[in-house]
Amino acid sequence: MDFSSQIALSKRDLDSHEIHKLKRSKPVIAVTMATSRQGYSVVKHLSENNCFQIRAITRSPFSKRAELLAKLPNVEIVKGDLLQRESLEKCFSGVYGIFGNTTPTKGWMLGRGSMVRDYELEQGRNLVDVVKEIADLGTLKHFVFSSVCKPKDPLKSQPAPGHFTSKWSIEEYILINGLNELSTILRPVSYFENFDSDLPGVQISNSIFPGVVDKDKLWQTIAVDDVGLWTKAVFENPQKFLGEALNIAGEEMTGKDMAALWQKINGKESPSVRYSMVPRQLMNFIEHDIALMASWIERAGYGADLKALRALADELEITMTPLSCWLREKTSTRNTQKRLPGINLQRRLVPAS
Ligand SMILES: NC(=O)c1ccc[n+]([C@@H]2O[C@H](COP(=O)([O-])OP(=O)(O)OC[C@H]3O[C@@H](n4cnc5c(N)ncnc54)[C@H](OP(=O)(O)O)[C@@H]3O)[C@@H](O)[C@H]2O)c1
Repeated sequence: MDFSSQIALSKRDLDSHEIHKLKRSKPVIAVTMATSRQGYSVVKHLSENNCFQIRAITRSPFSKRAELLAKLPNVEIVKGDLLQRESLEKCFSGVYGIFGNTTPTKGWMLGRGSMVRDYELEQGRNLVDVVKEIADLGTLKHFVFSSVCKPKDPLKSQPAPGHFTSKWSIEEYILINGLNELSTILRPVSYFENFDSDLPGVQISNSIFPGVVDKDKLWQTIAVDDVGLWTKAVFENPQKFLGEALNIAGEEMTGKDMAALWQKINGKESPSVRYSMVPRQLMNFIEHDIALMASWIERAGYGADLKALRALADELEITMTPLSCWLREKTSTRNTQKRLPGINLQRRLVPAS
């Protein structure tokens, strides 16, 4: 039995001898940007399945976020930097799988904002070049690249935000490097977690549900934890996902509807909730690319096929997180003054998408 067919089996299908064998030789999956919100959810879900050994990559192995990851089962923390190719070569050495992610967020600078397309492209080039090297050696069997959702209406996609086109360019670079058959592209939409950012005015309160998109426009969103769920499903079912790309979302609602949902869930605490959009001009000043993204969502829209995703989730026994559940959890963690897992791992200036 080869590796890919082994991991495609659920644990209950294996006899104890095989489980023992598998435990001794767990395939290794390297996760880039492991301390990010997305990376954390990926490491967490892959670690839970107990069939993989996870190499969680960070530039700062002794940070608080890295320490959190190190407490998870089957996880080792490894130092690596997407801007340093040789470090990736070490991180990816001998792995069975790689979860690749890149970031446009370079740090805020007056007049430039925080998002830099070239910064993300440099990471993408290093990532894909080293994936190709490792693939040529023959051990790598599955590369999952986390991009961003493609538009619902491609004819209205221009101008698209730089931190979207950077990811789509990296997708093309994967193709031209002949890695398609070895790869799966996951394309998440905006996280629910953006509704509770540290940016002033972009926090859920008893009277406000914040957002960057017009109150009447449909906006697809997802719990960042679900990115980890889908990634785990992809690694567990290589035969289904190799060579495929999937836009992933959990909800499609207007800002007004989300505010109404929050009011209903928060009950007496929130007698009247208003959806409050960060004024586009202000957003443009703080982070031009997020303002561009908001206009893009209103014009072209995220294009995940929610009906097909729900059917696929049923088939793979994935329980996607509805916004209502995420908000309910928010009320309960709020009461105990705790944060939701996976959010605010890092103080953030602007929501990334
Ligand atoms: N926010 C959204 O709604 C959304 C939706 C879809 C897609 N995305 C995309 O998802 C990606 C991740 O976003 P996120 O919000 O999950 O990230 P995040 O929480 O902002 O974390 C960013 C991470 O990037 C790592 N990092 C930065 N520079 C690095 C480098 N040179 N090499 C290696 N690691 C580096 C940092 O890890 P260390 O400091 O530990 O190394 C940090 O943990 C971004 O590309 C974003 O555009 C975001």
